[in-house]
Amino acid sequence: MATKHVLKRNVSESLFETAKTYFPGGVNSPVRAFKSVDGAPLFMKKGDGCHIWDEDDNKFIDFCCSWGPLILGHNHPKVYEKIVSTLQNGSSFGAPTRMENELADLILSRNPFIDKIRFVSSGTEAVMSGIRLARGYTKKNKVLKFEGCYHGHVDSMLVKAGSGLVTFGTSSTSEGIPESYINETLVVELNDIDALRKCIEQYKDEIACAIIEPIPANNGLLLQELTFLKELRKLCTENNILLFFDEVISGFRVAFSGAAELYDITPDIVTYGKIIGGGLPVGAYGAKNHIMASISPDGPVYQAGTLSGNPVAMAAGIASLTELAKPGFYEDQKERTEYFVNLVNSHAKEKGYNFELVTIGSIFWLSFDGSKHIRRAGEINPNMTGFRKIFMALLERGIYLGPSGYEVGFISQAHTKEILAEAAVAFCEALDETI
Ligand SMILES: Cc1ncc(COP(=O)(O)O)c(C=O)c1O
Repeated sequence: MATKHVLKRNVSESLFETAKTYFPGGVNSPVRAFKSVDGAPLFMKKGDGCHIWDEDDNKFIDFCCSWGPLILGHNHPKVYEKIVSTLQNGSSFGAPTRMENELADLILSRNPFIDKIRFVSSGTEAVMSGIRLARGYTKKNKVLKFEGCYHGHVDSMLVKAGSGLVTFGTSSTSEGIPESYINETLVVELNDIDALRKCIEQYKDEIACAIIEPIPANNGLLLQELTFLKELRKLCTENNILLFFDEVISGFRVAFSGAAELYDITPDIVTYGKIIGGGLPVGAYGAKNHIMASISPDGPVYQAGTLSGNPVAMAAGIASLTELAKPGFYEDQKERTEYFVNLVNSHAKEKGYNFELVTIGSIFWLSFDGSKHIRRAGEINPNMTGFRKIFMALLERGIYLGPSGYEVGFISQAHTKEILAEAAVAFCEALDETI
């Protein structure tokens, strides 16, 4: 039996009231606002391993993991030590440091897909820069994206994007984006080879790149058929279109070199974020030498950043990626995740619930469409009542998920089998109570 508590929320509620006077919606990133679940957001004050504590001293097993970066869990001793020892020498110079070389070497020596990398400070910045690179390199303007894929809040990418937009029902396009930008974005359904072929046939001379989350994880977990991804690669090659893998979630998550490694598909441009910064703000984009040669100061495509390659952020990345590069890391992550997912799914199946945890690597998603393989954004049942109910039932049992039914959960190295067995009991009881 999982222990069920009445959730204390007084301090979080009071902090939220104050925050609302400072920030739009009381938050600095929309999905944090708990708008699609009940009550005020929980204000966090501490994390250690796979646990977090909120300001009311509720303790949770954390499956949000800061939306993915914390693959080693909170406050990992090696990451902590490296950050602190680096910080003792200063926090920023605006000049090159050896830390940038070290992180680049850790990545590039293991990654057959890119020759050069550029560090930036967020996933959004990485995508924005990668798109400019694709346009500058190909001398074409249009970008093909897929419905439900989220690529950060880059203007031209907020067309039919998932994540916060779909959570708040704005699944078409954000306001504030000029029509002329929208006209440069072509949107195709995921996993639809015919629609893809048609679009490319019509616009091939105008499309700079086709950008995709190879493991779409911002609008549910929409696992693509390998044949679709391979066909996308082929069509891009045949039509002089760059294939752009946005691996901000999947990079260093499903394998060290992301979905490209897992699926053995070579993209032309790749973006990373989240895990690459070990919990501090880092993003990156990379490509082969002939493409990266377009980037300033070598080439004519301008991109810069005051805090790019920040030594403290690099330190967190180096310490994290050093752990991930150890033999067996990803096999172990996958094995523990499957153990957890199987416990929950066999219970759901036995009880005949229309529910399944969908999984890949150490990512999982709560699907209220049973065992149907959902591969396109529009196939998800938009009624999120099931999620809303289970989210609360899980909070009361000490389990914290990202507060949206469209977002995925993450398992870290700190989620031991014992913890996952405990979490699975809570999931099963929460299902029994809410379905
Ligand atoms: C696939 C993908 N690309 C880009 C981004 C944007 O990254 P950031 O939030 O660091 O700007 C995200 C964020 O969730 C993402 O999931």
